[in-house]
Amino acid sequence: MSQSSQPCVGVLSETTELEKRVALAPETARALADAGLAVAVARGAGAAAGFADELYAEAGASLSDNDAVLQQADIVLCVAPFPPDAAERLTDNCVVAGFLDPHGQPQTAEVFKRKGITSFALELLPRTTRAQAMDALSSQRSVIGYVSVLMGAGRLPRFIPMLTTPAGTIRPASVFVIGTGVAGLQAIATAKRLGAIVTATDVRAVAKEQVESLGARFVFPDIQADDEGGYARELTDDEKQKQRELLAKSVAGADIVVTTALIPGRPAPKIISADMVRSMKPGSVIVDAAADGGGNCELGTPGATETHHGVTVHAPLNVPSHLPTHSSVMYSRNLHNLLKLMLDDDGNLSFDWEDDILRGACLTGEGANRRGA
Ligand code: NAI
Repeated sequence: MSQSSQPCVGVLSETTELEKRVALAPETARALADAGLAVAVARGAGAAAGFADELYAEAGASLSDNDAVLQQADIVLCVAPFPPDAAERLTDNCVVAGFLDPHGQPQTAEVFKRKGITSFALELLPRTTRAQAMDALSSQRSVIGYVSVLMGAGRLPRFIPMLTTPAGTIRPASVFVIGTGVAGLQAIATAKRLGAIVTATDVRAVAKEQVESLGARFVFPDIQADDEGGYARELTDDEKQKQRELLAKSVAGADIVVTTALIPGRPAPKIISADMVRSMKPGSVIVDAAADGGGNCELGTPGATETHHGVTVHAPLNVPSHLPTHSSVMYSRNLHNLLKLMLDDDGNLSFDWEDDILRGACLTGEGANRRGA
């Protein structure tokens, strides 16, 4: 750990094959260094996101290998959650912040507890107005919405906008967005900018106004599935059937379907049946942006692009990693804003567990104990 009075923020190179993001962009490294913190970055950590080592050095960070970063760091930032074996390599009593997959990898939290690590999981951050600047779920889901539409457009054998040309008029494409949380709303906005005719659906009634304010048509199955914290609950079998009947026409008429529907702590709901895929025009595209959670489409395989009945079913994993520069910039700004809550006026680590954001995001350590976790 840092021998100086100011804490050291450490950034490791992400080790999973699918992860191109980095937890700290050079602009945030500079902001931390300017605030008097030491910043240690593993060589090559930002390379896949477009950030060369020199940019970190110019920002005031020191560069070394992962082991040296671990030795120096009081606070370790990550994007991809630590699997338990990687968590074992962290220094005892350090602080960890980032996506930590608390529901999917509970064993990691056990390692953190044993090692006295105070950890903050961005997945647990309260979705409140005050926490918005730290809300990495939102910033990354916004990337998902944008990239998904471009992925669909790139696989579509036709134009998206209406074109009036000497060769005649081209009619605009239809885009249907399923699930209108942060990702879905960004998908709508992106598809509108490309000139598509956009329709969208959700099972939360409050989504109607948000969808319509973006100029899209809202299709509502009249199922009140609003649950705690603004999330949706899982539908009953009868409700699922009712939803499929209502959505059949919108799916059949769409050139691109983007699906983003998720339920916290549950597998992604299967909303598009094989019959619905079969009803689509050949050449149409489904972008299943819920593939990380198992996918919203019955056909297709998470991580693969397949053709079923002439319809392309594209189910990308870790979509934010497909736009690594800006997803990293946004993610590191989120982390920086969270870090500000952990530092006192002299730049020393200090946790105010009365703060609902710190307490809410705390996975292991005193904050989690106070929450009764
Ligand atoms: P999410 O990523 O968990 O889910 C995506 C969408 O899928 C949600 O809109 C959900 O209602 C929908 N969905 C789930 N099951 C469905 C089904 N069977 N059929 C159709 N749609 C289905 O959601 P996200 O983007 O994380 O947002 C969750 C909530 O948090 C939203 O209400 C959002 O407005 C709210 N929020 C609030 C913020 C704040 O600052 N107050 C910041 C960010 C999000």
